Amino acid sequence: MIRSVIKGVGTSLPRRIMKNSEFETLVDTTDEWIVQRTGITQRHIAGEDETTASLGEAAARAALDAAGLTPADIDLIVLATSTPNNTFPATAVEIQNRLGITHGFAFDLQAVCSGFVYAINTADLYLRGGRAKRALVIGSETFSRILDWTDRTTCVLFGDGAGAVVLEAQEGTGALTDQGIIAASLRSDGSHKQKLYVDGGPSTTGKVGMLRMEGKEVFKHAVGMITDVIEETFRQGEITADQLDWFVPHQANRRIIEASAKKLGIPMEKVVVTVDLHGNTSAASVPLALASAVADGRIKKGDLVLLEAMGGGFTWGAVLLRW
Ligand code: ACO
Repeated sequence: MIRSVIKGVGTSLPRRIMKNSEFETLVDTTDEWIVQRTGITQRHIAGEDETTASLGEAAARAALDAAGLTPADIDLIVLATSTPNNTFPATAVEIQNRLGITHGFAFDLQAVCSGFVYAINTADLYLRGGRAKRALVIGSETFSRILDWTDRTTCVLFGDGAGAVVLEAQEGTGALTDQGIIAASLRSDGSHKQKLYVDGGPSTTGKVGMLRMEGKEVFKHAVGMITDVIEETFRQGEITADQLDWFVPHQANRRIIEASAKKLGIPMEKVVVTVDLHGNTSAASVPLALASAVADGRIKKGDLVLLEAMGGGFTWGAVLLRW
């Protein structure tokens, strides 16, 4: 029985760090309000020379280094992004080219903040189906380019960055103790479109558009949706919350993370939180959080890890894996 195993994880963040205090001169806000309502203290903002493709490439190279592999070993690239370099070709193909890969195949996947969870689930199915052997799964975003910098209710929440993992197909026994992805559950519901969307696009306005969000409405739905999809993933994996070693949630708001963990009975000591340093980096948030807990030694070989995300669409999902 084939399992998809994470062989390495890598990240890339723009050079420029923007502290909350900088917003005080842009919009009617305070550092105190942002910290209290979201837990965010700073975020990285891409410079002109930093794009979704360049950040994604750097994260991919770091993940390959961590795995002890080279671009030649990769035959599939799935890039989760809502901020591609161009409408087409897919930014995944641009990253493939930047890595010097001309074999295999690459494509973008768009599920907003749930993008990485959707992408790792998709790559897992290709690997288990025998269509590829090793995949780069990347979440890379430059949300700063689609923010309305005069709207205090959204511009303070987001940041730019990228995270990537190398996923490899390995033979296993199918036991819960085997390394790799054990279970996953994905959901979407388009009836919530107006609560979180970008007000432009190639087929409507012909312009890129800006992010619009009814934050309170998103918040109201988030905890219930997150906990439902996680409980479904636990059922599939035949585990209970107390067996979990680490919970790596999407990093949108510290209060959503705390409320979800509480509802699921997961103590905060087992929850990875990076929203304070990165803000909401959409599809990059889960691999950025995962990488931080791997780098500092919290996540160790054999740990049971749960990834979760919820975002525009709405889309939401969870993935359970043995590290
Ligand atoms: N600074 C100061 N005041 C502000 C700011 C700000 N930056 N933003 C809003 N306010 C004001 C509001 O105007 C409102 O004022 P009023 O009472 O005079 O009308 C007041 O603060 C309270 O606003 P609320 O929206 O009720 O604040 P809330 O506690 O809900 O926090 C927040 C807002 C942080 C946006 C929260 O609702 C949230 O995190 N929502 C979820 C966002 C999310 O999870 N998105 C995930 C998906 S993202 C994706 O998929 C791309």
